[in-house]
Amino acid sequence: MTKGKRVLLGVTGSIAAFKAAALTSALVKEGNQVKVVMTKEAAYFVTPLTFQTLSGNPVYREMFNSPENPINQTSPSGQEMEHISLADWPDIILVCPATAHIISRVAAGLADDLLSAIILTTRKPVIFVPAMNSGMWQNKILQKKTAELKRAGYRFIGPAKGWLACGEEGEGRMVEVEKILEEI
Ligand SMILES: Cc1cc2nc3c(=O)[nH]c(=O)nc-3n(C[C@H](O)[C@H](O)[C@H](O)COP(=O)(O)O)c2cc1C
Repeated sequence: MTKGKRVLLGVTGSIAAFKAAALTSALVKEGNQVKVVMTKEAAYFVTPLTFQTLSGNPVYREMFNSPENPINQTSPSGQEMEHISLADWPDIILVCPATAHIISRVAAGLADDLLSAIILTTRKPVIFVPAMNSGMWQNKILQKKTAELKRAGYRFIGPAKGWLACGEEGEGRMVEVEKILEEI
């Protein structure tokens, strides 16, 4: 298990996002520093307050400030270039859970939100922990994108086979937190 490292945890909009809270807690318990970046959709599943409390750090969610979105509400550090500073900060970036959407965005080289911009910018190792319906995971285009990312040096943990939140049994289930901790 990783100890004493700086872990940037990217949380995306999957029903498995609640498991990222247990992961945050376990990483902190082992003496790692954890900073969480959430996509807009992730906040439908788990509140930023949960990750803020468990990590002991502000949660990062937005790339831009605007009159409707003042920087002191969206940028905890007050910096305008967090996609750069947060890309440099960690020893490792863990995207957990990773949706089909974030995998495809990264494979396409997109940088249209804070998390995808950080992933595109960073020179640090990036690990995806996919979680999704088996139809999504087995989709040929997503499989092609995943293979491209693996070839480019991105790592994947899972997904596992098992019971899925949509009520199906199949491949796409997020690997359990204990296994993720072993693998990283
Ligand atoms: C209840 C619910 C559960 C979802 N679970 C997943 C999931 O487990 N995996 C996934 O890839 N998408 C899932 N989605 C769809 C994503 O939330 C959607 O594709 C979203 O745009 C992902 O955005 P993000 O990757 O930027 O967080 C779910 C949507 C809903 C409404």
